[in-house]
Amino acid sequence: MVPSEDAAPQLDVDQILADPGVRIVVCCGAGGVGKTTTAAALALRAAEQHGRRTVVLTIDPARRLAQSLGLTELDNTPRQVKGIDVEASGGELHAMMLDMKRTFDDVVLQHTDPTKAAEIFANPFYQAMSSTFAGTQEYMAMEKLGQLHARGEWDLIVVDTPPSRSALDFLDAPARLSRFLDGRMLRLLLAPARSGGRSMFNLVTASFGMFSKVVQKVLGAQLLTDLSGFVAALDSMFGGFRQRAEQTYRILQARETAFVLVAAPEPDAVREAAYFASRLREEKMPLAGLVLNRVHRPVVPQLDAEQSGAAAERLAELGGHEATADVLRAHAALARQAVREQQVAARFTEAFPAVPAVSVTAQPADVHDVDGLRTIGAAISRS
Ligand SMILES: Nc1ncnc2c1ncn2[C@@H]1O[C@H](COP(=O)(O)OP(=O)(O)OP(=O)(O)O)[C@@H](O)[C@H]1O
Ligand SMILES: [Mg+2]
Repeated sequence: MVPSEDAAPQLDVDQILADPGVRIVVCCGAGGVGKTTTAAALALRAAEQHGRRTVVLTIDPARRLAQSLGLTELDNTPRQVKGIDVEASGGELHAMMLDMKRTFDDVVLQHTDPTKAAEIFANPFYQAMSSTFAGTQEYMAMEKLGQLHARGEWDLIVVDTPPSRSALDFLDAPARLSRFLDGRMLRLLLAPARSGGRSMFNLVTASFGMFSKVVQKVLGAQLLTDLSGFVAALDSMFGGFRQRAEQTYRILQARETAFVLVAAPEPDAVREAAYFASRLREEKMPLAGLVLNRVHRPVVPQLDAEQSGAAAERLAELGGHEATADVLRAHAALARQAVREQQVAARFTEAFPAVPAVSVTAQPADVHDVDGLRTIGAAISRS
């Protein structure tokens, strides 16, 4: 039997977008499944159809999509999107791209005095970490969400999540980064730089003569000073960092938040979505539903793959109907793919039967303009 997508309750995004109690929508999922597209489409719909003053925080949007939202540079502040259809609804759409380095710099500035901040900015470790450290992007996305939320200017904040290898990174990276910033080992090793006393670093390196030599050679004295300076500086702000991350974590658990899980109908993406759904349950974070994106649907679903395949064979035998036979073959391939996709999707719905879901058909081309986003928004809400 072909598993039916109707087995899961239907996700009603319009109900979520129209609900004044919902203030944050977070779109998450595995890499490349359509998180950015879904986030932008939902935000546009919230503004156009539901009259909400909406801001969408996008992360690494494709250039053409960014341009169509009027985002020409990474300036880290929301810009109002012009030329959308909000006359009737009275809504507004603002969009921004996350600049993780600028966001990190802002946090530093807020937690320390300008002289200390300048020292931190000049530190090569800070420069590396603020622009490349794995997890910084996730951490800063949360930080930015916290800032937007604190400003209280928007009815609805739609958050895209970073193109991580795993969807779980969004939840795990802040803790990982905290552990790094909080790194006791690192601090013990570097203690002398701050206290002037005999160092653990010396002790450790004395007992590992080889290690010491290698470290000295590879890192060099200047670099060690830089690293210790960096850790000492971060140390003074760390309480602030952690407190903010915890605050945002609580916002994510609140009733005002709705997580929208995005998956493509492929085994890896669906498995990822299932992991994420269980994690949300553990963390008591509200999962609104699953958007199964880029599904394939044959134009005539009543005609199954065997029937059309057999008809194509028959026509080939008869001869002279090549074009029709090709169409039937293409239909058969599409019908087979649709069945496969439904089977893959069923793995999620069987594991989470209570989670509402909706399928969005694969568009013939990439989604890179407002019209395309509107089409996706309509598909997600089945209107
Ligand atoms: N339903 C759809 N039909 C056709 N193309 C789509 C659809 N949804 C998304 N796309 C396209 O797929 C590509 C990936 O989408 P998108 O950038 O939204 O994914 P993502 O999950 O944000 O990726 P990343 O993890 O890299 O950030 C884009 O080119 C987008 O235009
Ligand atoms: Mg993206």
